[in-house]
Amino acid sequence: MDKFVINGGHPLKGEVTVSGAKNAVVAILPATILAKDVCRIENIPNISDVTAMINILNIMGAKIKYINKNTIEIDTRFINSYVVEHELSKQLRASYYLIGALLGRFNRAEVAMPGGCYLGVRPIDQHIKGFEALGATVTMEENAMVNARADKLLGNSIYLDVVSVGATINCMLAAVRARGLTIIENAAKEPHIVDLANFLNTMGADVRGAGTDVIKIHGVENLHGCEYSIIPDQIEAGTYMVAAAATKGNVLVKNVIPKHLESITAKLVECGINVEEYDDAVRVSATGRAGKCNIKTMPHPGFPTDMQPQFAVLLSIAKGTSIISESVWDNRFRYAEQLSRMGAQIHVNGKTAVIEGVEGLKGAPIKADDLRAGAAMMIAGLVATGVTEIEDIHHIERGYENVVDKFRSLGADIQRKEFPDDDQKIQMGAG
Ligand code: EPU
Repeated sequence: MDKFVINGGHPLKGEVTVSGAKNAVVAILPATILAKDVCRIENIPNISDVTAMINILNIMGAKIKYINKNTIEIDTRFINSYVVEHELSKQLRASYYLIGALLGRFNRAEVAMPGGCYLGVRPIDQHIKGFEALGATVTMEENAMVNARADKLLGNSIYLDVVSVGATINCMLAAVRARGLTIIENAAKEPHIVDLANFLNTMGADVRGAGTDVIKIHGVENLHGCEYSIIPDQIEAGTYMVAAAATKGNVLVKNVIPKHLESITAKLVECGINVEEYDDAVRVSATGRAGKCNIKTMPHPGFPTDMQPQFAVLLSIAKGTSIISESVWDNRFRYAEQLSRMGAQIHVNGKTAVIEGVEGLKGAPIKADDLRAGAAMMIAGLVATGVTEIEDIHHIERGYENVVDKFRSLGADIQRKEFPDDDQKIQMGAG
């Protein structure tokens, strides 16, 4: 088993460059299916979720050519299957975007229910509602296969009962080639929704209003290949910003869109952290302990749920008591147990956590419960005195490109180490 081993207590200093956005690329890769053509996509992060999605497309018949580590050409002309088995779909949550994309291309999709981080119940009723509004019949087979088919997709009004990133994206994918006008109301407004709309429009689609809560799509008959560069990752940027603040460091986070970071920046400033904004970079610096603040997670432009575990680490060493209310996911405080082992005073009651700031954290053996919890544990390890060993790092590598190298370039003492299974048992006290 591989672990991250961190010798903490060093302020992070220097510059770090943010990679392409995971949650944009995992939607844009399936979207290439909609054009029977070649798309060249740049700024693709080298992370395991992307590897998994590319592998699925490859197995379905797409030809993938790596131009360099972050640029690929994807030729979807020869895709000849609309079936994605569970072995493949379980590798990443976003495999459900293949339902919308395959429906859009073949009027037919059979995709097993996806995997991804366990954050509580993750229903897809709003995705299905959208497909049905466009004229598809959707059934759930016994083997957890979602089976969607339509004679013809026809534009329609879709009102989402909850603001859902996934449902908004899936409805967009299915609607771009449907005949007539589709209006998605109560749509999600995240930066990756806008990025997907820009990608689809570059392929010849007619999508308007992305980034607002009403998206209008005039269906077009055909889409064509294009060249496109993925936006920077808002959450990766935010993770380095919080790491800089928590270690009382001074870091220039480069290749960002500061507008996407507004809610994160606002909360850091509220905690007394210095944030300077430039055209495509932000500098975060701190000399003392952060102040307390309260956070409520919300869909964009509210404070992102994907940043709350990282922020909880900062608040756990802040002066005073802070409250975090999670309003998106039912089960996003599993990391609290790990953080408590390091000396944090964090008390969870349902979807609320009360954090009493302590002077500092102490290194401990901990684990990454999911992707963002894992990122938070890395920040905790960087802050803590002594050694922190993080296991289950595959969660972190799903979404952070070169995370060890990036933290090392900021002066962190961190290594990725392989541990034999027997050692593992002894260290975990199970031997
Ligand atoms: N929901 C429903 N019905 C649906 C869909 C969603 O009730 O049909 C509910 C969910 O249960 C949840 C809320 O709506 O309570 C929001 O879920 P959403 O659909 O927006 O989440 P998602 O699309 O499954 C994406 C990101 C998550 C991120 C959320 C919220 C991707 C691949 N995943 O998930 O990212 O937390 O939006 O912003 O884009 C991560 O990157 O670590 C991650 C978990």
